[in-house]
Amino acid sequence: MSNKPTIILDCDPGHDDALAIVVAARYANLLGITTVSGNAPIESTTYNALVMKDLLGLDVPVHKGAIRPLVAPPQYATYVHGESGLDGADLPAPTSTIDSEDAVGYIIDTVRANEGVWLVPTGPLTNIGLALRLAPDIGKRIAGISLMGGGLFGNRTTAAEFNIWVDPEAADIVFNYGGPLVMAGLHLTHQFRATQPRIDRVKALPGQLANVLGDLMQFFTDTYMRRHHGMDGGAVHDPCSVLCLTHPELFGKTAAHVVVELTGEHTRGMTLIDQRDLKEVREANCDVLMTIDAEPAFDLMIDAIAHFSH
Ligand code: BDR
Ligand code: CA
Repeated sequence: MSNKPTIILDCDPGHDDALAIVVAARYANLLGITTVSGNAPIESTTYNALVMKDLLGLDVPVHKGAIRPLVAPPQYATYVHGESGLDGADLPAPTSTIDSEDAVGYIIDTVRANEGVWLVPTGPLTNIGLALRLAPDIGKRIAGISLMGGGLFGNRTTAAEFNIWVDPEAADIVFNYGGPLVMAGLHLTHQFRATQPRIDRVKALPGQLANVLGDLMQFFTDTYMRRHHGMDGGAVHDPCSVLCLTHPELFGKTAAHVVVELTGEHTRGMTLIDQRDLKEVREANCDVLMTIDAEPAFDLMIDAIAHFSH
């Protein structure tokens, strides 16, 4: 039996989600891909997931998920990912089609049918929140949830990271679900950047996948460098939530109590990570990733791209 972690990747591709698909396909036992409204509307994130499935030649189902957050109005990240969610490359039209429009049902059924599945959400937490509400039993069946979101600082607002800010009510369900939870927040993912030399290594690889991903990474990094002071590359957030399961030795973490702010005028969508060393702080509900050994982690990602690129 393989000792790869078994995962469902719940994503909103998204440049870094696309890279998370590559890393998941290479290093995890990827059962399926579910999509959510986030970086772009659900039609676009689902289309982009199918593009990636075909580019990698994967035999995994793609299930379309929530068209909008639980309570908040839909919001997109066109300022980072472009109108399509994956601007910057000529994407080959997918021939694969979705397996269903019921990502939440797929997640519930798959977790009930398989022991020890990790849910890996790299977009807003709408699908995962809905699944936990509809089928609370899955909280006890899964190995855990490894999510990209939150952090010690914000990006969409001063306090809030995009994925949590888009659907804070869903995030609140997830942070309270009571089982193993791993969080790749911005303070972690900003250590994992697509610098120009790293992008050039991808561009130098043969094959269509590397060609497309090289262009996507270039677009993503150019956008980041236009929008940020002093960053030498785009922060490749989403693969971190996969790599921390497949290569935990590359990460440093701390256990902490984390809550999601739902009501603050300036802080809605913030993850409040309790770092106080007081004995009275509430029991940890989350492993908060703090450090990544970025060079070997990037090597792994480039090796994964090379593996699928012919
Ligand atoms: C997160 O938001 C999205 O733009 C990225 O795909 C990532 O999941 C970073 O805040
Ligand atoms: Ca994402």
